[in-house]
Amino acid sequence: MNIAVVGTGYVGLVSGACFASLGNKVVCVDVDERKIAMLKKGKSPIYEPGLEELVRENIRKKTITFSTDLKSATRKAEVIFIAVGTPPKPNGDADLSYIEDVARTIAREVNGYKVIVEKSTVPVQTGEKIRDTMRLFAPKGAQFDVASNPEFLREGSAVSDFMNPDRVILGVESARAKKVLIELYKPLKSRILVTDIKSAEIIKHASNSFLAMKISFINAIARVCDAAKADVELVSLGMGLDSRIGKSFLSPGIGFGGFCFPKDLAAFIRICEKLGYDFDLLRAVERINEEQKRYFVKRIEEVLWNINQKTIAVLGLAFKPNTDDMRYAPSLDIVAALQAQGARIRAYDPHAMDNAKKLMKNVVFCRDAYEACKGADCAIVVTEWGEFKQLDLKRVKKLLTQPTIVDGRNIYDPKKMKALGFRYASIGRS
Ligand code: UGA
Repeated sequence: MNIAVVGTGYVGLVSGACFASLGNKVVCVDVDERKIAMLKKGKSPIYEPGLEELVRENIRKKTITFSTDLKSATRKAEVIFIAVGTPPKPNGDADLSYIEDVARTIAREVNGYKVIVEKSTVPVQTGEKIRDTMRLFAPKGAQFDVASNPEFLREGSAVSDFMNPDRVILGVESARAKKVLIELYKPLKSRILVTDIKSAEIIKHASNSFLAMKISFINAIARVCDAAKADVELVSLGMGLDSRIGKSFLSPGIGFGGFCFPKDLAAFIRICEKLGYDFDLLRAVERINEEQKRYFVKRIEEVLWNINQKTIAVLGLAFKPNTDDMRYAPSLDIVAALQAQGARIRAYDPHAMDNAKKLMKNVVFCRDAYEACKGADCAIVVTEWGEFKQLDLKRVKKLLTQPTIVDGRNIYDPKKMKALGFRYASIGRS
């Protein structure tokens, strides 16, 4: 099929590259000329395992192209995915102005039957707004359908998540659009659930909110475990063995971050409010998440006694491993809180330092974890990168002025740390 994907962020670029490798002809469109120029050279503007290789392979096969020209891309495509940003407004509402702009431009260029698919995470009823905008601006008699196809890929494993989804959700309003989209997704051999557009939109928000709730739930349990001197990792394991609960998204830590959960949660709370429902359960999820970052700083303070004038080695800055994404990364709040108390920060992240440098001030960025630990009073684990799990801890101990590690991701075994002579604190395992 001829496909246009508008927006080359995580969702758009990954979808575009994957659809191309499934045998379609894809054009990825973005207003950002710098990004398009990079992509044309086979360079990915974001770090995502396997993505750059996939882009290059499809450039070679001529199955993917990149352009800033939405009009011409629309005219050539049968299916157009809208994957532009929906950033949060100060009140938590999603800003849908980019979606509206794109819908208008597409509408004016409709020259044959097209399916316009919303792929960005959007409030329920956005599909109706897109349809209304399309009707208003499209030429008379233009043939099109609007559909919703929310994406569930995670950063850090985006390509493999896209190719192996648990389910594909297709929110459609016509048999014709359903047929086109089912055909497009057939090669993935995934379970496909066809719904109406509004239900598909809610499935995305409800899924992200539920996962965020699981994380806040286990973080709250971690607080209880710390107070009761129990072990949250065992509690999480014991809970997760119940297939009704499931073991995923029950890892305690420093709270969730990234550009999806915090923003989508706030947006969904606002959507529900506007629909007349006060989803106070989700407000508690947000509150627990904010508290968790403060709790981590408090743990560091408990161990170090005073933070003022102490040097702290921060291991990991990205909001999760295998990404260079710093958006809403807990490290931002944690480093700022430590600096506010007078700490000196040395930091290392395998991939996110270029992005972190733009957002953090007065931080010494180091070549590796060992350099970060050199002369520090304490090391803190903020992102659970694989390489931190493999560190030579005896070497780390020698480099630190006090053998102290506060582990926000529970990557080390407390017994082993004690045996190695570390003063070691983690989350929910005191
Ligand atoms: C999340 C969802 O998992 C995807 O399904 C969804 O498509 C995406 O949002 C989106 O809406 O675009 P992502 O934000 O990339 O994906 O990453 P996750 O792996 O879900 O992690 C989110 C945050 O939760 C991270 O800060 C992570 O450290 C934290 N987390 C995750 C925990 O603290 N504990 C856990 O058990 C799991």
